[in-house]
Amino acid sequence: MEKITKGRRMSEDFLDDEKLLQATEVQSLGNFIKRFTINPKHKRKNSMESGMYISKEAVDKRNKKLAPKVPESKEKCKLVLPDGTEVELSILEGTLGPKMIDVRDLYAKTGMFTFDPGYTASGSCVSAITYIDGGKGQLLYRGYKIEDLAANCTFIESCFLLLYGELPTAAELSDFEERVKDEMLVHEKLKDFFKGFNPKAHPMAIMCSVIGALSSFYHEDLDIEDPKQRERVAIQLIAKFPTLAAFSFRTSMGLPMVYPRRDLSYIENFLHMMFSDPMDTEAVIEPVMTEALDKILLLHADHEQNASTSTVRIAGSSKANPFACISAGIASLWGPAHGGANQACIEMLQEIGETENIPKYIEKAKDKNDPFRIMGFGHRVYKNFDPRATVMAKMCKKVVETMDTRNQEMLSIALELEKIALEDEYFIKRKLYPNVDFYSGIVLQELSIPTNMFTVIFALARTIGWVCQWKEMMSEDVLKIGRPRQLYVGETCREFVSIHDR
Ligand code: CMC
Repeated sequence: MEKITKGRRMSEDFLDDEKLLQATEVQSLGNFIKRFTINPKHKRKNSMESGMYISKEAVDKRNKKLAPKVPESKEKCKLVLPDGTEVELSILEGTLGPKMIDVRDLYAKTGMFTFDPGYTASGSCVSAITYIDGGKGQLLYRGYKIEDLAANCTFIESCFLLLYGELPTAAELSDFEERVKDEMLVHEKLKDFFKGFNPKAHPMAIMCSVIGALSSFYHEDLDIEDPKQRERVAIQLIAKFPTLAAFSFRTSMGLPMVYPRRDLSYIENFLHMMFSDPMDTEAVIEPVMTEALDKILLLHADHEQNASTSTVRIAGSSKANPFACISAGIASLWGPAHGGANQACIEMLQEIGETENIPKYIEKAKDKNDPFRIMGFGHRVYKNFDPRATVMAKMCKKVVETMDTRNQEMLSIALELEKIALEDEYFIKRKLYPNVDFYSGIVLQELSIPTNMFTVIFALARTIGWVCQWKEMMSEDVLKIGRPRQLYVGETCREFVSIHDR
């Protein structure tokens, strides 16, 4: 086997690391197999031929650029305490977005903390990955508008962008795609896990467990302080997630598991592993399915410091195993107020059933004594429109028109519900607009993805965002464990009462 000594690949070549090679369980299974097999069709150019060599210095420079720094404060503000004392606080300014008051030394200066449940006004980190302007309805990945990326890029291209900070050249992209394919196989032992689940288990329950279980394969030899190994974790996660997600679906259906194929793209592989008919090997996947799923994944790839991403960061801040941290993110995403909204939205549209019933449900949503909410409506950050929803709405219409008319009625209900809600004073006043999940559920249903797999698809997409945010956090100079404060309103200190006297 070729040992690389002159340089390093753009996306790290782990074959150059003897220590990693010796540890079978941390070795890429795809790469391992390729050492013994030859397929001229899939022969990968070596690093020299593909122009993938960049110097170690260039890799270090890129990693340095990817590690964000807290900007220096150029402005101050004053806080006046009830006793009249004035406390000076620094103001921080990023490249985009509102300025922030730096309260890191507030306790030292005042003996007080800030109170902000749900972090509605608090920054928890510096980041250079994704930016949202909720007022303008803008979402940027590494500075590129989501609309431009959705129109011109594939999901896997956006993964490269999020991971390395720049759009790939054609050679870099094909190298990256191969690297991901090398990691798509999972250890056969992992398949045994699937036998233990309740046949009716929700696929998100399975995903929390099996992604967490990857930590049992990648722990002892994993050094999370090493940027090269962090990069490898990122590639392993985006590569293995579709395989495990498809395994969880096939288990729930009682169907045989299907392995990834080197000749298929990332999205095609996922659809192949999900829907392959063991009795019809010639069946092909509709191109519109591949396009729609690619779009859904790209639109959901990252979204700043949302609940699941913050969960991953908090879990990772204790330097926990990254596969376990991503499992924590999956758990957080599952709820209907977050990633579970796409499933909840379809269930709501089914419950509404007919356009005549819409006014009744609008009234229910407005009634404060009724817990019902219009699912797929509203967003913590977007207060004008969700740019992902605009792209998704177009894709939704295309899919419904191309595939069949099965969901035509559901789309009509959704469009009518959107129209009525957008004209209603309640929704206007609260700036409630359709979010991406208002339409993504209809698309997924049209693609024959079962409802309980919707949130798994969201998790599959968000894995790149989670792992990039984890990587970014790990690359910071000073990594602080996440540890919020509380406003205690319980009993004050009291005397213990013995069990006989209670
Ligand atoms: N239907 C009816 N009323 C709503 C809705 C809704 N979907 N969303 C918010 N409101 C009302 C809410 O009752 C409140 O009214 P009031 O001021 O009179 O008490 C006001 O609007 C503000 O709501 P909030 O819950 O304080 O806002 P938030 O920023 O904390 O919550 C949200 C954002 C997304 C959790 C919420 O809008 C919601 O529950 N939406 C439905 C679930 C959903 O679609 N989630 C997917 C979000 S996009 C995917 C993702 O990125 O995770």
